[in-house]
Amino acid sequence: MNGSFMGRDVISILDFKREELEELFELSDRARKLVDRKLRLLEGKVVSLAFFEPSTRTRMSFEVAARKLGADVIGFSSEESISIAKGENLADTVRMLDSYSDLIVIRHKLEGAAKFASEIALNPVINGGDGKQHHPTQAMIDLYTVRELFSEIDGLTYAIVGDLRYGRAAASFIYALTLFKPLKVYLVSPPILSARPEVTSLLKSRGIVFEELSKLDEVIEEVDVMYVTRVQRERFPDPTEYEKAKGTYKITLKLLEKAKHSLKILHPLPKVDEIELSVDNSKHAAYFLQASLGVPVRMALLTMVLGGEL
Ligand code: NCD
Repeated sequence: MNGSFMGRDVISILDFKREELEELFELSDRARKLVDRKLRLLEGKVVSLAFFEPSTRTRMSFEVAARKLGADVIGFSSEESISIAKGENLADTVRMLDSYSDLIVIRHKLEGAAKFASEIALNPVINGGDGKQHHPTQAMIDLYTVRELFSEIDGLTYAIVGDLRYGRAAASFIYALTLFKPLKVYLVSPPILSARPEVTSLLKSRGIVFEELSKLDEVIEEVDVMYVTRVQRERFPDPTEYEKAKGTYKITLKLLEKAKHSLKILHPLPKVDEIELSVDNSKHAAYFLQASLGVPVRMALLTMVLGGEL
């Protein structure tokens, strides 16, 4: 059954077909039932976590997922702690990890770094985020969360809110929606943070009904899923541009008064100040559930890529 994932690199969510993602979600359901057990499916396998950029959820949930499946985990969580700090290049670092392990999860500030690593490594490479470009496993978790909350991904109205210019989680989620049939997609951001042309042109070419706007309150009554992201401070080429962008949007309980009762808010986290803290306790907040689903979805993905049977 896991045939199409076996041995495969995971670089962009657009590398996957809808049916493949549905298969992943079914396996994630199975993983959730087994999540309290220590399994031996990947016993003898080693997973490398090569995190050149900060991470809380992606790195730790991959680690928990791998360990729960019985795999060993090696890795690092900053450039300073490895020989890159002595001048070693990325290619050599990847070659080493590839020889020590069966799969590499890589996060890097440069767009294309995961693709580059996959061309060097003989074993599969999973992109844990490359610059502003892709974050495919986050998109898998995001879709799985929507499926969990609404029992379907099709037919819903989505608002993607925040830093659509530099946010890889937002871009990957938008890409992921093009594999399904959303009723409508609103891209909501101040003009300075609007979606990049490659993102909007994909929506156009795939016939997705979408609209770009800067004020969420104009459409909030229609929205089923609100996907909020932080301003990606570290990706601004010019700090004065960041100063202009920060604090330009905020989700408040007041704003949510006009929303559907069933509206759910997703956020890849970390959140900074773009969601008022009191929203965390509202019926709309689904981002902590979403984060917790990272473990079973990543368990399913590791199993499928490394060839075990859950
Ligand atoms: C995101 C990332 O690193 O792109 N975090 C995550 O993996 N959940 C989002 C972000 O940093 O804003």
